This record gives sequence, structure tokens and C-alpha cells, in this order.
Amino acid sequence: MSRFILNETSYFGIGIRTELATEMKTRKYKKALLVSDKVLTECGVLSKVKKVLDDNNIVYSEFLDAKQNPTIKNCHDGIEAFKSSGADCIIAVGGGSVIDVAKAIGIVINNPEFHDIKSLEGVAPTHTKSVPIIALPTTCGTAAEVTINYVIIDESVNRKMVCVDPKDIPLVAIVDPELMTSMPNALIAATGMDALTHAIEGYITKGAHPISDMFELKSINLIAKHLRGAVKDKNMIDLEAMSIAQYVAGMGFSNVGLGIVHSMAHPLGAIFDIPHGVANAILLPNVMEFNMSSSIDKYAEIACAMGEYIRDISKEEAAKIAVEAVRKLSKDVGIPQSLKDINIKESDLPRLAKDALKDVCTGGNPKDVNENDILEIYKKTY
Ligand SMILES: NC(=O)c1ccc[n+]([C@@H]2O[C@H](COP(=O)([O-])OP(=O)(O)OC[C@H]3O[C@@H](n4cnc5c(N)ncnc54)[C@H](O)[C@@H]3O)[C@@H](O)[C@H]2O)c1
Ligand SMILES: [Fe+2]
Repeated sequence: MSRFILNETSYFGIGIRTELATEMKTRKYKKALLVSDKVLTECGVLSKVKKVLDDNNIVYSEFLDAKQNPTIKNCHDGIEAFKSSGADCIIAVGGGSVIDVAKAIGIVINNPEFHDIKSLEGVAPTHTKSVPIIALPTTCGTAAEVTINYVIIDESVNRKMVCVDPKDIPLVAIVDPELMTSMPNALIAATGMDALTHAIEGYITKGAHPISDMFELKSINLIAKHLRGAVKDKNMIDLEAMSIAQYVAGMGFSNVGLGIVHSMAHPLGAIFDIPHGVANAILLPNVMEFNMSSSIDKYAEIACAMGEYIRDISKEEAAKIAVEAVRKLSKDVGIPQSLKDINIKESDLPRLAKDALKDVCTGGNPKDVNENDILEIYKKTY
């Protein structure tokens, strides 16, 4: 049994954000709450979207206070902004953090008994679809515009909660690479490696399906071809390919799950505010080594999708080549290679392992794990 949920409508291409006006009009929305953040306001990304709204006389209020690695308090502020706006839809312009805040707002407005947000962790019994969301991603990583997940920090315990709810999926995704050109190179690298992690974890997860496999392999292939160029000089060919690659990875993993790279990255974001993509990228090769015996055939396919030459060698050798290809890509785009490099202390590792084991993504890992396995991988990555 498998279920696939995707956006009602999605758009791709340079300058395609003008379709935002078409969608607002044909769906007969009267007023939007525009959700974004301060950085996007300052670097001019938001004004590119506001121009479309202003040119078409579309009415909107603003909530521009979404935080990187958003908290419950942050979502509550957004919910209040929605209530006082009189809006009937949400336009989210940002990375995963902004889109996740938009999802939490949309779900709580229509399911007010979940106002504490904590009760939304995992798969919550919400009854009504989110307020309609139109999402315009500005990073090339999370695919939050097409996923049924959102990730919020419970700041009372410094833990990331993964909320999984088919009712939160944005109705419309507008993937315009021109909204990504202002990303600093390190952000392109980090979010691109997040997308690669989605594609690889989604490909080998316990719930993988031939349909999601198709998306994940294509995504791996696009990222291997285009991430280096996108990071090096932000040329539009590579950036556009990355904007599609991250979305395609999301079409897959959102429907089948992830694994312990994400479980182990989440506490690094929640406790130390490490950018999500950096945390994933540091952990990915060592987790791949740990999971290798469960997915040898698929690892050989990953090597092939990454453009590695694997004819006339054993599957075991091809699997090792896949791990090394991922490690090389991560190094080439300038990702730090150890937990020490991002100032984590060895004494922090046991706490991280405890939190990671409890994460919603752990159940999807292809190989069963215990706390000690996770601790050993953290130590190896230290
Ligand atoms: N919903 C999902 O399915 C899903 C999947 C994976 C991760 N996540 C979550 O998403 C969050 C990470 O999202 P992210 O990696 O996209 O980064 P982000 O949204 O946290 O953004 C990181 C920083 O980059 C800035 N930024 C974003 N776009 C920019 C641009 N075009 N130009 C300049 N600066 C820009 C932001 O303002 C922010 O300061 C984490 O909280 C993670 O847990 C969600
Ligand atoms: Fe992710």
C-alpha cells in the first residue's frame, strides 16, 4: 500500500513567479498573509515577489519575522499575525524555515485545538486542511513547498519536532530560480547537500517505492551534475537545475520517509543552531557507510546516478564509490568535514544521540539502530 501526495499545481522556471498573480486571481483569494523573514526582506528577494502582487493590485498583510530553525513562539507570533490580518490565504516566500512557519500557521488556524503546536509532533489527528498556502522557495534544499512535513523547535526542551500532516501541503508551489540568486555560496552548498541527503535517504528508506525511487535517482543525478557549478558562480543553468532537483527529491521523500542522517541533524539544529544542510552534509557519508550492508544494490545505483564509472566491479566496490562520491562533492562545495569543525564538543555527543534516537525520521532508516549505534556514528564524525 502506498500513497502519494503532491501540490495541486506547481510551476518551474526563470521568472515564473508572475504566475502568483494568476493563482491568486483564479482561486479568488481576497487577501494574503505574506510570510517571510528579515534577511529576505533586506536582500531584495521579497521585493521581487511583492512587485508581482503590487502590479496586480493584490492585497496582503505581512509577517516577516520567521526565524532560521523556527520555534513554537515564532509560530504563535505568525498565528496572531494571521488572525489580525483578515487574510484568506498564505503566501510563503523563503527557505524551509519560512515555509514551515507558514504550514504551522495554516494548520493551527483551521485546527485551533492544536494551538500548543507540541501536540502536532509526529502524525497528529488534525481534521481540517490548512489555510491555502502558495509557497515560493528561495533556497535549493528542503523542498518544503512540496512536502507534507514541517519542522519546529520546542524551545522548552531544545528539540526539533517533525510534524507530518498531509493537510499542510501547499496547494501551489512556484519554483523560480531567480529567487535563489542572492543566496551566499555557502547557503547554496548547504541547502544543495540537504537536497542530496533527502534524495539518498528517500531512496534507501524502508518505505521506498518504485515511484519515489524514480524521483530520488533523478534528483541525485541533477545534484551531482549541477551543485558544484551553482556554488562556484551561481550561473542560471546550474541554479535552475538545482531548484528542480531539490523539488524532485521532495516529491519522493515526503511520501516515503527519510532516515537517521535527518534524525542526527535535527538535534544539532535544535541545540546548537547549526544550519540544517550543513548538519546533514557532515553526517551523510558516515551514515551511508553504516547503512551500506542493507542497501548494496541501491548504493551501486547511487554511484551510477552520480556519474561514477562502475562497470566490471562488484556491487560492494560500487557502493564504496557511492560514499566517496558523496564525500568528494561535499568537500568540493566547501562543507566542513567534522563535528569538531563546527565547534561541537565530544561531551555533547551522548545527549545528541539520545535525542536523535527519538526523532520521527529514525523509523525510516533502512537498518535498525540503537542509541549506541548513533553515538558511534557521531564519534566517527567528530
Ligand atoms: N518541511 C520540510 O519538509 C523540511 C525538510 C527539510 C528541512 N526542513 C527545515 O527547514 C529549515 C531549513 O531550511 P533552509 O535550509 O531552506 O534554510 P532557512 O530557511 O533556515 O534559511 C537559512 C538562512 O538563509 C536565508 N535565505 C533564504 N533564502 C535566501 C536567499 N535566496 N538569499 C539570501 N538569503 C536567503 C534565510 O533568511 C535564513 O537566514 C530547518 O528548520 C529544517 O529543519 C524542513
Ligand atoms: Fe532536510
